[in-house]
Amino acid sequence: MSRNIDIKTVSGSEIERYIPSLAWLRRTVFHEFPYLYDGSDEYEQAYLRTYTKSEKSIFVLALDGQKVVGAASGMPLSKETNEVKKPFTENAIPVDDVFYFGESVLLSEYRGLGIGKSFILEREKHALSHGFSITAFCGVVRPDDHPRKPEGYRPLNTFWEKMGYEKQPQMTTHFEWQDLDESRPSPKEMMFWLKHHT
Ligand SMILES: CC(C)(COP(=O)(O)OP(=O)(O)OC[C@H]1O[C@@H](n2cnc3c(N)ncnc32)[C@H](O)[C@@H]1OP(=O)(O)O)[C@@H](O)C(=O)NCCC(=O)NCCS
Repeated sequence: MSRNIDIKTVSGSEIERYIPSLAWLRRTVFHEFPYLYDGSDEYEQAYLRTYTKSEKSIFVLALDGQKVVGAASGMPLSKETNEVKKPFTENAIPVDDVFYFGESVLLSEYRGLGIGKSFILEREKHALSHGFSITAFCGVVRPDDHPRKPEGYRPLNTFWEKMGYEKQPQMTTHFEWQDLDESRPSPKEMMFWLKHHT
């Protein structure tokens, strides 16, 4: 397999042409632990289209030739849903100062090459160039003894700390989806991580 991966940033309406590949990528990666999510292509495409509506939103793409093998998204927190904004307003953090990172998804065979680090750095560069002073994201909270946790699973917490992000146990929200072994959707606890850029 070629390891010559190109990192490309697209924003606003430029995202549109990548929507089918991004939907496929999200479904493939989120199917695995810790997300265990089985989304429909229709839902994914509609969700991704929200990113095309803000000129300040971005996707950082990892391309192996023409194939999108990884992607990371971001948009101003002010354009996000109320579930995402609520922990910020509850903690007196000005919503307009925050650039919010959505997903980071990379096919497993491309992990450990530093692409995840580029995903964070590229989005921070974009956020700072648009005048935001805080970058933030959230991750799903799963118990250590979760039955679907694969042997040798490496949590990303230390990586995020190394990148300057601080876990905010007081800032949580819930996203609803149906786990692979659930019969209906249920709320999943999401915890936020923040970085202040001074
Ligand atoms: C998040 C993600 C994009 C990071 O990608 P990556 O390119 O492997 O990241 P990097 O190579 O920059 O390494 C980041 C960290 O991942 C871990 N890592 C390294 N190699 C790994 C591998 N082969 N497999 C899994 N994790 C690995 C390490 O902890 C590394 O940190 P380190 O610098 O302290 O060693 C990728 O792990 C992913 O798609 N995960 C599944 C989806 C997910 O959980 N996304 C985050 C929330 S949306």
